[in-house]
Parts: sequence; structure tokens; C-alpha cells
Amino acid sequence: MLFQITSSARLPALRAAFLFTLLFPMFVVAQGDVHPQSREYEWPSDPQVKDKLEQWRDQKFGMIIHYGLYAVPGMIESWALCSEDWITRDSTSDYGEFKKWYWGLKKDFNPANFNPEQWAATAKQAGMRYVVFTTKHHDGFCMFDTKQTDFKITNGPFAANPRANIAKYVFDAFRQQGFMIGAYFSKPDWHSENYWWPMYATPDRNNNYDIRKFPWRWDAFKKYTYNQIQELMTGYGKMDILWLDGGWVRPLETVTDEVRSWGAAIPAWSQDIDMPSIAAMARKNQPGLLIVDRTVHGPYENYQTPEQTIPKEQLDHPWESCITLGNAWGYVPNDQLKPTATVIAKLIEVVAKGGSLLLGVGPKPDGTLQEEEVKKLEEIGAWLSKNGKAIYNTRGTANYHEGNTWFTQSKDGKTLFALLPVAADGAWPASITWSGNIPAKGTAMKWLETGEKLRWSVKDNKVMVQLPKSLLTKRITVPALALEFERVP
Ligand code: GLC
Repeated sequence: MLFQITSSARLPALRAAFLFTLLFPMFVVAQGDVHPQSREYEWPSDPQVKDKLEQWRDQKFGMIIHYGLYAVPGMIESWALCSEDWITRDSTSDYGEFKKWYWGLKKDFNPANFNPEQWAATAKQAGMRYVVFTTKHHDGFCMFDTKQTDFKITNGPFAANPRANIAKYVFDAFRQQGFMIGAYFSKPDWHSENYWWPMYATPDRNNNYDIRKFPWRWDAFKKYTYNQIQELMTGYGKMDILWLDGGWVRPLETVTDEVRSWGAAIPAWSQDIDMPSIAAMARKNQPGLLIVDRTVHGPYENYQTPEQTIPKEQLDHPWESCITLGNAWGYVPNDQLKPTATVIAKLIEVVAKGGSLLLGVGPKPDGTLQEEEVKKLEEIGAWLSKNGKAIYNTRGTANYHEGNTWFTQSKDGKTLFALLPVAADGAWPASITWSGNIPAKGTAMKWLETGEKLRWSVKDNKVMVQLPKSLLTKRITVPALALEFERVP
């Protein structure tokens, strides 16, 4: 039972939160197809974009923050507004009432303890190096001071706060910590009457009128989108990434068989928002800006963004897996967080396969991060502070794994790193072996955690490394082992 709505009033937030906690997993499973990953990729030609892309590929670990109206009841971001058949809602209330209730959350969103410095300091401590923040999710609620609509954080109970323009202060706080800065922006906007025209029903994620019949309405939506992105690219300091979500908003000619296979409804008309002009404007204001028009392969998808999954094999073009720390993108009370070792194992696999990990967190309605999240992120950072050399500034190497041992290399290719996540039972073998990635004669096999040099040998083209006693006896416990050595030149 979701969204129990009485005829006269909104559902009390706590109750909604409780129901969502019970039923949330249904959404996660059903939504899984939204943004998969493919092999099609076009390298950028603009030298400044190329430079920034290389800089971005060095960062490896970022934080994606979902923060918006959905934090108030602690429910999945935006999606319940959509009427697709995988979405479960309480059958005793009607869709119209639910929507009214959701839009009305605006009156309750007052993050009085908004603390972007805490977010940024925690992310820094976690070893993260770039951030992507939801300036506007599919529900259309703006976390920045847009002039295009009143449906925004700067027009409500938080308006009088000196830091009401939340996106601005988030970007500033992370910039202060030396992060690359990314603006998440949803192309679809379910609150805009030019996307979901209230004259018609809203059966799915797409715009709900025939654009061929009402081109003027779509033009108004295009203008709105352009203007909002322009605001973000001109009023919020230096931006590195424009992360565009909602891949179903795309020109019809980009709807390939691959896109059709994802199973979402595809309208007969083109939802073309004119990316070339948006990109030109954005890059004029932000030279070298990376644009991530998710799944719309071509010049505006500067890196790919598989979601909640890791590609099966190494890819040689730029990509990033976005994966939640818990189950939900936004704040859901009592969400189950992934164990630290699981997150580190994912980071290792992603980096060995040539990608970056963008880990998702959702701040609480009061504007602070959950304590459990902070603790987990600190644990991840503790490992990275000692072993980060095997992660940051590395590139994929040809023999990128053997079983569960993963390999990365320094950019000049001289140094190799072997990484082994701890087994589920926490036990380590006395030695590990691999073939290929043979160390140069006389090179030290350094355990990055302690700087200790481990004994190693090569026989029949197989490397064997003795693991340190302190690991075997569990005097030292680590979520993963990282070794550094020189490769045969
Ligand atoms: C998705 C969803 C969304 C989430 C996101 C993060 O495709 O539509 O709710 O914000 O991507 O990757």
C-alpha cells in the first residue's frame, strides 16, 4: 500500500516514509532498465573537452547527490508521479490526488540545517574527487534559483534562508575542497505544462501530447530547458560536467533497436531539445565542459553512465558506473547501506575496467547527511588514503584481471597495481598467483597499506606473492589488498 491519501488532506509525511520503506525494493527492481550501457562511443574533437575528459578520467571516484522534494517523505525520487505500470501506488487513492500531494511537498521542504560543507568534507574524506548534484530531477522541482518557474527551493519555507539557492552553495562547498563540479539536470520535467500538458493524461514518462500537432508548445519547453541550463552555466561558477538525465528525451532518429529493447514507451514524434545549440551555449560559458547526455550516443555523450551495474568487460572509452550507497538514490529512512568492502570491491572492478565510480547518497530533509552514511564513507576513505595510488590517475591495463585479482597501471604504463578485495568470509590465502603482468626483475612488491615489501617469485610465467602474516593472523584487517610493482619494460 503506497500513498494512502485521504480525500481532504495530504498523507502525513511519516506514514508515507514508512510505507515507502516497506515497498521500496519493488521500484528498484522494476526500474532497472533505465540507463544501461553500450559500446557505441564518439571521442570528442574539441581539444579543451579532450583535456577535461583526461582530467576527469584521473578522478575515479565521485559522489552523486539526489536531493529534492522526495527527501521530505523519504521516498523514491520523482518516479511515483509517473503512471507506468511498474509503479505501485495505494489503490484507495486516485492518481490526481497523489500528484497534488506530491507537488504540495514544496510547502514542507525546509532544510533548516542545510550543511553543504559537511557533505563536501565527508566526500573529501571518503576519497571522492568529483560531485554531481541534482539541480532538477524529473519532478521538475528546482534546487537552484531559476527565473523560469516558481517551483523551486528559493520560493517556499526555505526562501528566507541566506543560502536558499542550494545548488550554488553545494557547488561552492565542493569547489572549495578541490572537486570537479557536475550539474545533474533532468531533461524531462513532469511539472512543466509544456512537458506534461494538464489537458491530457500522463500515462508514461514521455511528454503527453503530439509534438507534431502542437509544435509551439514543444518550442516553449525547449526554450525553458535552454534558459534553465543557461542559468546553471552562467550563474554558478566554473562547471566541469553537465550530467543530463532522462535519456528518453532524444531526437527520434537516435531511437535505435538498442533503445527500443529497453522496453519503455517510445512516442511517434521526436522529443528533440536541440542539443547542438544547448551545447554551444554551455561550452561558450564553460569552455571544455563535459556533457553527458545519457545514452544518446554521439558528440554530447562524452562519457557513458551505466546505472547500478558494472560493464561485463573492460572498455577503452570513458565511462562511469553510478551506483547507490544504499538501495535508493535519495533519502529513504532505514535504507540498507552496502558494506564498505562491497563498495571498495566495486570501485576496484570499475577502475580496472577503465571506468569511474559515482556513488549515490541522499541527504536528509533537514539538509544533513545521515550518520551511518558518513561513517561508511569515512571507512571507504580510510582505505583510499593508503591505497589510492592504485586507483587515482591510473588507466586500464590489457590483462586487467585474473579471477578476483584486478590490475591497473600508472599512466606511463611503467607501474602496475594488483588489487584483491577481501573474500566474503574475511580470510586471506597464504599467497596469491597470477600470470601475465610479470614484475621486472628485482622490483619491489609493495603493499600500499603499510609500505611493507612482500616476497614474490616467478615460475613458468606465473607470479606468486606471499601475503603478509599480519593479514593472515588478522592483526591487520583491510577491505582489499593493493600491491605496487614495476612491470617488465
Ligand atoms: C535514472 C532515474 C533516476 C536517477 C538516475 C541516477 O535513470 O531516472 O531516478 O536519478 O537515473 O542515475
